Amino acid sequence: MVVLRVLFLMFLTFLPGFTALTWSDDLKDGQPVYACAGANLLLPWNVSKATTEGIEDIKWFYSGRSQEMIAIFANGNFLSMPSFDGRVLHVTTGGLYLRHVQVSDTGNYSIEVSGHDASGAFVTHRHTAVVRVGDSLMTTDGDLHVTEEVKAMWDNSDQQFHVVLNCGTFTYLTYPPFEVEWTHSDGSKGNSSTYNDGKFQLLLANPIKGGNYSCRIPAHSAAAACLPGHTPKPVFAGISVDSMEGRLTVMEAQQSALKEDNSDLNIELSNLKTEFSDYKNDTESVHVSFHAKGSSSSISITYTQPVLLPTVSINQGNGFTASTGKFAVPVNGTYFFAATMSSGRSASANNYYRTDAELVVDGSVVCKIQSPVYGEVGSCQAVVELHVGQSAWLRCGRTVATNCYYNGPVTSFTGFLISQA
Ligand SMILES: *[C@@H]1O[C@H](CO)[C@@H](O)[C@H](O)[C@H]1NC(C)=O
Ligand SMILES: *[C@@H]1O[C@H](CO)[C@@H](O)[C@H](O)[C@H]1NC(C)=O
Ligand SMILES: *[C@@H]1O[C@H](CO)[C@@H](O)[C@H](O)[C@H]1NC(C)=O
Ligand SMILES: *[C@@H]1O[C@H](CO)[C@@H](O)[C@H](O)[C@H]1NC(C)=O
Ligand SMILES: *[C@@H]1O[C@H](CO)[C@@H](O)[C@H](O)[C@H]1NC(C)=O
Ligand SMILES: *[C@@H]1O[C@H](CO)[C@@H](O)[C@H](O)[C@H]1NC(C)=O
Repeated sequence: MVVLRVLFLMFLTFLPGFTALTWSDDLKDGQPVYACAGANLLLPWNVSKATTEGIEDIKWFYSGRSQEMIAIFANGNFLSMPSFDGRVLHVTTGGLYLRHVQVSDTGNYSIEVSGHDASGAFVTHRHTAVVRVGDSLMTTDGDLHVTEEVKAMWDNSDQQFHVVLNCGTFTYLTYPPFEVEWTHSDGSKGNSSTYNDGKFQLLLANPIKGGNYSCRIPAHSAAAACLPGHTPKPVFAGISVDSMEGRLTVMEAQQSALKEDNSDLNIELSNLKTEFSDYKNDTESVHVSFHAKGSSSSISITYTQPVLLPTVSINQGNGFTASTGKFAVPVNGTYFFAATMSSGRSASANNYYRTDAELVVDGSVVCKIQSPVYGEVGSCQAVVELHVGQSAWLRCGRTVATNCYYNGPVTSFTGFLISQA
């Protein structure tokens, strides 16, 4: 905020030894500047340059009721144009001082500095101040009004809705150069809660106390608010707040917030339902398991032949084929297999043989079933990652005999899908 300053004017001299061509932070480009009619206004631009840089001239322009040049500074001379003659002064390097500004002086004021940089190139720098001059209360209709917002406002700090009173409507482009003071229905005084769209706002505490609320510009702010006269009567506006209506306003806001929450929850619920049904589909639609065992007590096959197990008690997913003894992988995933085998007896020789078999996937051995003693039971288990196209089966291993004998009812092959890939 740039405030009016009565200042000791320093007239310009180009002092050697400035550090660099820089703008002071006092007045940013495009910044609004507020003044009251009859006051003096300083636009405190301040540009400084390095020794290797040069300033050739400085020009000031006005854009508002007209477009014109205000003044020029060149060769150590400050020259103001006729329509600003006697009204403007040059302060330090770039600052402009306007005497007795009027509402008609509202407009954009720009400064243009031309010179050369360290490399000798010609440079121009331009900054603008957006000036608003008021000659009375700077509101849309020259009066102050207190209104009650139709909708309650959510306050994050206490997580509640509040009835909002507005005091305005001001025409300042940014926060006004003063505060208003509120008087609550119980007579206590307080500050505004926020400022929005030209209105100071007061959030009423819950539960709402009905009665008269008012807003005024305190006497000490009269000058900043451009109120005329030396002892201005306080500018003041009030409203009567009905506590029942206020509570309803808060409840309406709560209800509509609940509705919104509810609809958000419904969307979330429906997303969850879809996810769950996908998940259910994934887990439910894929059941793979089988169990098969042999039938006759003495079966003879040759080395590397699949062990045939015709008694199939379960075959979910139809991966197992009894006629081949092979399990064809129906879905990609991780599988568990278990195989048990007991060696059989040769009917002709009436000899027992060692148990010797292997669980293979596409012919590669996964685990072996071997017993060193004739007639003993052996087993093997494995967890294997498989994909569609592969097959797993039991086959006879190499024994001392040409044929391999196994005892059907004591031989079985089991498998199931642990998880889908
Ligand atoms: C202008 O800027 C120069 C350099 O930063 C500084 O020394 C000087 O005090 C400023 N003048 C005013 C009036 O702010
Ligand atoms: C003043 O400047 C503002 C912001 O740069 C611009 O929007 C506005 O049109 C200008 N007004 C005039 C009269 O040049
Ligand atoms: C209002 O704000 C001013 C300063 O901004 C402070 O001095 C004063 O105590 C505040 N008044 C209340 C009632 O909070
Ligand atoms: C509220 O203000 C109105 C009009 O300004 C007045 O008639 C009424 O008596 C006031 N009520 C209270 C409780 O001060
Ligand atoms: C569940 O799977 C079946 C058969 O694969 C399919 O037709 C259906 O669209 C799936 N449902 C969902 C919700 O993905
Ligand atoms: C199964 O695995 C094979 C080999 O890794 C791959 O090419 C194929 O896309 C997979 N199929 C599915 C349905 O994931």
